[in-house]
Amino acid sequence: MALLEIKNIDVSYGKHVTVSGCSIDLEQGEICSVVGESGSGKTTVIRAVLGLLPGGGRVSSGDIIYDGRSLLQLNKKEWRALRGHDISMIFQDSGAMMNQTRLIGKSFVEYIRTHEHISKQDAWKKGADMLSRMRLPDPDRIMRSYPFQLSGGMRQRVGIAMGMTYQPKLLLADEPTSALDVTTQAQIVRQMMELRDEYGTSIIVVTHDIGVAAYMANKVVVMKDGHIEDQGERGYILNDSTNAYTRKLIGAVPSLGGKRYV
Ligand SMILES: Nc1ncnc2c1ncn2[C@@H]1O[C@H](COP(=O)(O)OP(=O)(O)O)[C@@H](O)[C@H]1O
Ligand SMILES: [Mg+2]
Repeated sequence: MALLEIKNIDVSYGKHVTVSGCSIDLEQGEICSVVGESGSGKTTVIRAVLGLLPGGGRVSSGDIIYDGRSLLQLNKKEWRALRGHDISMIFQDSGAMMNQTRLIGKSFVEYIRTHEHISKQDAWKKGADMLSRMRLPDPDRIMRSYPFQLSGGMRQRVGIAMGMTYQPKLLLADEPTSALDVTTQAQIVRQMMELRDEYGTSIIVVTHDIGVAAYMANKVVVMKDGHIEDQGERGYILNDSTNAYTRKLIGAVPSLGGKRYV
């Protein structure tokens, strides 16, 4: 059984159907990239899975099954237990989501203590351990910093480390590297792939960079105008798909046209 089954969902804002007929299966330990131009509905799909659609948004048809149960049936308490624990998320600038006036360590402690009844000292230690496991340099200094004192890339790595504290089975990442320079981008991509390798975390990563998608993913989903235009194993999408839109996206990246990633 797949870890996550998005089954033919429509997502609507008010009466307007924004995403229609979207189906994605994700096995344990699999990385799926979702690509497509801005406005094609990528973020909407990720937010639907997380139960975090903005006001007026809802899954108006279909179902989302995680680990055998429908996410659409969960109440707030069940979501609190699952989100940030079994299912984690990272956004384009996770640092911007942190409280800017609070030490990173304090935010980390608070996050840990919403999921575990442990002392503040133990939570602080657990947070610092997590940073060092993610190979962030000088974890104690990071814990004692405010978000604005770190670079964007470092904040993003802290965000990922936080999201990984409970070794989630599923990580949803929405353009996690878009705001970063190429070197940091590569670090973050490697970090996510290591999570998959070490913990068997399944990942859905939204990116408009088909190079990143092709490098990381076992499976690629191509979205266009609110529907899935094409999807399949990486090799199929890169080499064999005859879908005109997919070919156009791939053709726009010279290194992919030359098949360097496969
Ligand atoms: N809060 C909202 N209310 C109404 N429509 C929205 C809202 N958020 C996004 N949309 C619409 O959903 C469509 C897809 O947006 P989005 O999922 O953010 O695309 P992507 O992430 O691929 O750029 C857009 O056309 C946008 O207008
Ligand atoms: Mg988006």
